[in-house]
Amino acid sequence: MDLFEYQARDLFESHNIPVLAGAVATTADEAAQAAEVMGGRVVVKAQVKIGGRGKAGGVKVAENAADAKEKASAILGMDIKGHIVHKVMIAQAAPIAEEYYMAILLDRANRNFLVMASVAGGMEIEEVAHTQPEKLARVGIDPNVGISSELALEIVRQGQFPSSVENDVADVLLKLWAAFVAEDATLMEINPLVKTDDGRIIALDGKVTLDDSADFRHPDHEALVDSSAANPLEAAAKAKGLNYVKLSGEVGIIGNGAGLVMSTLDVVAYAGEKYGVKPANFLDIGGGASAEVMANGLSIILGDPEVKSVFVNVFGGITACDAVAHGIVQALAMLGDKATKPIVVRLDGNSVLEGRRILNEAAHPLVQQLDTMDSAAAKAAELAAK
Ligand SMILES: Nc1ncnc2c1ncn2[C@@H]1O[C@H](COP(=O)(O)OP(=O)(O)OP(=O)(O)O)[C@@H](O)[C@H]1O
Ligand SMILES: [Mg+2]
Repeated sequence: MDLFEYQARDLFESHNIPVLAGAVATTADEAAQAAEVMGGRVVVKAQVKIGGRGKAGGVKVAENAADAKEKASAILGMDIKGHIVHKVMIAQAAPIAEEYYMAILLDRANRNFLVMASVAGGMEIEEVAHTQPEKLARVGIDPNVGISSELALEIVRQGQFPSSVENDVADVLLKLWAAFVAEDATLMEINPLVKTDDGRIIALDGKVTLDDSADFRHPDHEALVDSSAANPLEAAAKAKGLNYVKLSGEVGIIGNGAGLVMSTLDVVAYAGEKYGVKPANFLDIGGGASAEVMANGLSIILGDPEVKSVFVNVFGGITACDAVAHGIVQALAMLGDKATKPIVVRLDGNSVLEGRRILNEAAHPLVQQLDTMDSAAAKAAELAAK
């Protein structure tokens, strides 16, 4: 999960990383109020989960509350690279002397973490890496060892920070690492980390990605979820523990195993070309497709108004086809009148004959079976186009 800047700011603050006052607002009046409370110059910042807000006009200095109101009304509703601005952060303005860069991220390729730090901040770090690579420290961190005070200082020196700020910047790095570990993050970036005119080191912008796989350790992270952005069907699927991704087509897809679902998307996309239809979603019900899981999956997909037909593509393995067929029959019984769209089923693998027999015997009016993935995909596409 990616956080908004204001959430990153709050998280940083809770880990004693130096930040300035900040408040979030959803209307221009709220923005004016926050600026009034803060007093003095403020910066009005678009809260969108995409980089380059400054360049897009989403970061503006305001001299006072009235000015903040004006700037906020210009920024709210703005479209930044396809992200509509629904919130702004009112941040206390810092008198900036220098802008630096600092980040910790998960380095999947090297199976460890990577710290990057540079005296050249404010701009995109890719540009620094390209034009002034000597000013960018890139140091791998062994997760079992972490960052000692000595290493922090060494990294800061490598990033060519002036010696006057070395200790303070190293201290921020140690706190950022502590926060990174404590929150199970995969990315924490501060750009810019600034030195103010009076020599303080402050994080002015934060990007944080939390590791969703560690959610169970962080009940408090739940509150950070942006429910306004979540698709209601995706949220319902998540609540039921299903791997569901909404797409923009007409053929609903249920499969067992991510690989099978992905290839099902491909065959449906291919078969659908003829009819002008596409896959409506990705839904992996996983290995143990019980009746309940199948019912949950079917009800999510049938609840999508864009779906015109459903393709259930299952390869029986540990959960054999007969169990899956029972699951489908029971799911349809559980759904009753809520099931209204044609369902094409292709079963193969373990106990396939028994599975097909069960579905034939049930003879549900919405269900038809085909033996191969291609023929079933073609049928589902044809039905969706009707
Ligand atoms: N609180 C602040 N006080 C003074 N100047 C600020 C403040 N926040 C941001 N700025 C200035 O605006 C610039 C851009 O801000 P920021 O880094 O937050 O956005 P951005 O980098 O454009 O967006 P993104 O990080 O999403 O790419 C900063 O480099 C800094 O010069
Ligand atoms: Mg930035």
